[in-house]
Amino acid sequence: MWALPPFLARGLRCHGIVAGSKDWHKAVMIASTDINSSTVRLRRSVLSVPAGNVRALEKVPGLDCDAVIFDLEDSVAPEKKAEARDNLRRLFKEKPLQGREIIIRINPLETDFGRSDMELVLEASPDAVLIPKVERISEVQAVADMLSDAGAQDNLAIWAMIETPKGILNAAAIAGTDERLQCFVVGLNDLRKETGVPPQPGRTYLVPWLMQAVLAGRAHGLDVIDSVFNDFKDAEAFDAECAQGRAMGFSGKMLIHPVQIEPANRHFGPDPQAVKEAETVIAAFAKPEAEHLNVINLNGKMVERLHLAEAEKLVARARTIAERKKTS
Ligand code: COA
Ligand code: MG
Repeated sequence: MWALPPFLARGLRCHGIVAGSKDWHKAVMIASTDINSSTVRLRRSVLSVPAGNVRALEKVPGLDCDAVIFDLEDSVAPEKKAEARDNLRRLFKEKPLQGREIIIRINPLETDFGRSDMELVLEASPDAVLIPKVERISEVQAVADMLSDAGAQDNLAIWAMIETPKGILNAAAIAGTDERLQCFVVGLNDLRKETGVPPQPGRTYLVPWLMQAVLAGRAHGLDVIDSVFNDFKDAEAFDAECAQGRAMGFSGKMLIHPVQIEPANRHFGPDPQAVKEAETVIAAFAKPEAEHLNVINLNGKMVERLHLAEAEKLVARARTIAERKKTS
């Protein structure tokens, strides 16, 4: 019995089609052509909120970030872990958090806290569970098995922090582990600590490792989120790092403070000029004379059908953002 590669299965699931079903041929066609705003996932700004900080938790419903990571790991002291879990239980019951992706970062399963964190995940059913310091396929597999054994919905995703030397070295293998895996989040604080590479403007010596994580994730259809930037008062340096992260192919940035949301949304969102150009590409391929062409001349530039697919994605992203602005 063959199996679909995880990245394709991920695409099909969002159309309600289960990998292995007879409909998969049709589904592959749908998955590759039908990009509309209801299937676009925005991950420009991914805010980390310590689950032990009630004041910060209360702010979340009013923040314009695409995703929130409720952190039970490193931002919560060991003696506060149980209280932090209770804070999240209360928050999920009392406050509407719709309209953004909700992720819970657990402690590693081999710690005393990890299993209790997973109980909360199964109870609260967020969009995703984020595993810290992933170094091996088996760590993702263990969480995937726990979710499946407990009957968690197929769309409860797994995200993985890639933040250690072994994590970077094994990123390609980890990325292909399981079809629930949707996202890598790179963590430079831990990586700097373990490698001795100091923080420097431009992240010169870290760039090869960052690109390795991006490549590994992309090879398996994952989104890859850039690391946090600690100095939240330095808006100029944050701007520069967002621009760099965008240019390196990251989908968005993990954030530590609300002040970082607007610049992250701006840098990782579609550039208005690029959206205009994308609309021109879509219009050019929609002309009857282009129906059987795979490559056209658009004002002296070669444009291929692969650019059409990219253009459709970009326009769908822009539409999703505009629709969200309208409803908020
Ligand atoms: N999420 C939601 N609200 C936050 C927030 C966050 N990550 N960080 C700060 N805020 C809130 C504060 O509660 C404060 O609210 P208030 O005005 O009602 O008191 C407001 O934003 C301004 O905060 P500020 O005074 O500038 O900073 P702070 O001293 O309260 O917090 C940090 C600074 C760095 C401790 C805090 O931003 C933080 O804990 N960030 C996340 C850390 C984390 O998740 N680490 C793990 C991943 S690396
Ligand atoms: Mg970390």
